[in-house]
Amino acid sequence: MNQQSDSSALSVTEQLARLKSAVASQTQPTILQLFAEDPRRFEDFHVRFGALLFDYSKQRLSRAMLAELTALAQAAHVPARRAALFAGNAINNTEGRPALHMALRDFVSPRIVVNGEDVLPDVAETRARVAAFAESIRDGSLKGATGKRFRHVVNIGIGGSDLGPAMAVRALKPFCTRELALHFVSNVDGADIADTLEALDPAETMFIVASKTFTTQETMTNAATARAWLVASLGEAAVSRHFSAVSTRLDRVAAFGIPPSKVFGFHDWVGGRYSLWSSIGLAIVIAIGAKNFEAMLRGAGEIDRHFQEAPLERNIPVLMALVGIYNHNILGCATQAIIPYDQRLGRFPAYLQQLDMESNGKGVTRDGQKVHGATGPVIWGEPGTNGQHAFFQLIHQGTEIVPVDFLVAAKPLEADAHHHNLLVANCLAQGEALMKGRTLAEVEALLRAEGLDGAAIAALAPHKVFSGNRPSSTLLYGELDPATLGMLIALYEHKVFVQAMIWDINPFDQWGVELGKELANRLAPVVADGKASLAALDASTAGLIAWRRQLQG
Ligand code: F6P
Repeated sequence: MNQQSDSSALSVTEQLARLKSAVASQTQPTILQLFAEDPRRFEDFHVRFGALLFDYSKQRLSRAMLAELTALAQAAHVPARRAALFAGNAINNTEGRPALHMALRDFVSPRIVVNGEDVLPDVAETRARVAAFAESIRDGSLKGATGKRFRHVVNIGIGGSDLGPAMAVRALKPFCTRELALHFVSNVDGADIADTLEALDPAETMFIVASKTFTTQETMTNAATARAWLVASLGEAAVSRHFSAVSTRLDRVAAFGIPPSKVFGFHDWVGGRYSLWSSIGLAIVIAIGAKNFEAMLRGAGEIDRHFQEAPLERNIPVLMALVGIYNHNILGCATQAIIPYDQRLGRFPAYLQQLDMESNGKGVTRDGQKVHGATGPVIWGEPGTNGQHAFFQLIHQGTEIVPVDFLVAAKPLEADAHHHNLLVANCLAQGEALMKGRTLAEVEALLRAEGLDGAAIAALAPHKVFSGNRPSSTLLYGELDPATLGMLIALYEHKVFVQAMIWDINPFDQWGVELGKELANRLAPVVADGKASLAALDASTAGLIAWRRQLQG
């Protein structure tokens, strides 16, 4: 494959399409062949950053293809756009603002200027206020309306105002205080808040209403329910002692009755799905303490510098992005599985779903033209080894090729090494099995050795064949501590950014969630009022509402 020389006149999308047809028209070496032909493959197809090792040697990528894709990243101006991102340019062009969540974890730059103002002093001040408030809950010095210390903190938020804190608190359980419990309520389904509040004592419960906009239907509904629950037991005056809030819209928070000392702001240049680094991380700080939270911020900050400084060929988020582009745009894999062999990362796939799919699930380019070719893949996953006993059958033998990112720690945080050795062995075995597969001849030999006769072997053997040549990457890290978690999140954030730049889409808006919200608001009164006319609705929606009315009697 050598199209680099004559491809400079083509657009990035055209170059991608050209690579796709070149790959489709020639037999490509298998991953095993790539290893056989290249004794340095592992050496050159992994990058280490501190304790973290990113291995992408088990991808189908050849050296030539990697060079093509790296050239494509250059052609898409990834370095210049990365510089524009970090410089605070209004890279979120449809909302006319920067995407500067990196400023929240920057302990190195002397200043970061947005609209002529250095934002770092404000970032540091808010971080210090969050830390002091969190500490007063952690050490019990802040009391509720009856004089009791808080034993439960309920974060009410959704999307980025829920997933980040919920994911991180679960991931960092060993670092969490045992003095209180964190709870997360997100769904407008009343079951969510009912099940959460059921076991709680209002006198010992602090709520955090977390919402960037402070208008989100689910969060406002849950906050009102929580408020009513508290008032019913402790009276109206208790609200100011038991509620705190995090938002960019401090004007709207005031109306809820939350005093300014318990309100923490952040800026609109922090996107919802990037907001756990901001005061939206309050629940995390309460759980793990300010020092551990700072370690998480610093870990992410290290990745920011790596992303800015490492050459594209040795730049982990860039390589993650290029691997993803190869699998999705060139091989046509529709989905990407994220499989942490780390039970505490149980919510990490869900967190990445929002990060990736809300960012890159776009159908038009930055300037509003229809995109040519695929943008973001479907992201999904569950922890291993559980996934092995559920959906791995399809990943190993199904007709869909599902690229997998495996995440695994070198060391457990528990004393028991036996469990962790088994966990690591299972993780590595999946990647190996996906790559190597098992041929018909190998299966037949195994069945013969088991003593099966010819007819039985012929009947059974096809079912036991594994095609192999199925791609995976592995992120192996020291242990799942706050700094490592910060690194992992930042790696994926920048991967998503690089892919967006290659596809020439804006990853920082999310207009696609608006229509559903609008229609839900329009339907709400019709659903609530059993007699409201259904005439204006489409036949299916009207039919469903009519049947519900009948079931409700
Ligand atoms: O509806 C999508 C979204 O806007 C996300 O981008 C965001 O994280 C979530 O809703 C919650 O929004 P807010 O923090 O404003 O309540």
